Amino acid sequence: MPTRAWFPTYIYCEPLQPTGLTRLNTELADECRRLRKFDAAGRRWSAKNYPGGYTSYASMNELHRFSSTFAALEKKLTRHVRSFARELDMDLRGRAIRLTDLWVNIMPETAAHSLHLHPLSFISGTYYVATPKGCPGLKFEDPRLSKFMAAPPKLAAARRENLRHITYPAEAGNVILFESWLRHEVPANRVTEERISVSFNFNWS
Ligand code: NI
Repeated sequence: MPTRAWFPTYIYCEPLQPTGLTRLNTELADECRRLRKFDAAGRRWSAKNYPGGYTSYASMNELHRFSSTFAALEKKLTRHVRSFARELDMDLRGRAIRLTDLWVNIMPETAAHSLHLHPLSFISGTYYVATPKGCPGLKFEDPRLSKFMAAPPKLAAARRENLRHITYPAEAGNVILFESWLRHEVPANRVTEERISVSFNFNWS
């Protein structure tokens, strides 16, 4: 073929661990709901900035420092991030990768999270704790979207890697990783049960 693809955008998706996910997620879901009860500042912030939902993003975003459950999660996530960074051929110059922020998101029916990226980090991601049937996935945008100018739309039968958006279904027990500059969103939750996830940022220093 005369045409080859260059400059790919990588997204990593893998179960956190081979077994024991149900038990771990029950424990994590309890802890996330306890946190919501306890974190009045986070509930106030969410009421303004995360309508209908709860996030500890602005109030308690270093949960791995204060909770053994989240510290254990940090260890497991770090292994995945290392393997993703290797896949990206990153030369980390012997520096350590470090989880800087880790926070909880609870999305009841109607809650959504509009398009955003994660500043001040190099790899970000989400771990799924509770994903009721029919809850929204994680939708990524082609990072070149602003440069397309007069490009025509894609065919209905376009290959998936040629689409402008890709949605990863939210599946409890999975870790999704991406480079922090990649914009993404979570469409509104249209089911009555709560969707629970833990998001995080990694830096190298
Ligand atoms: Ni995000």
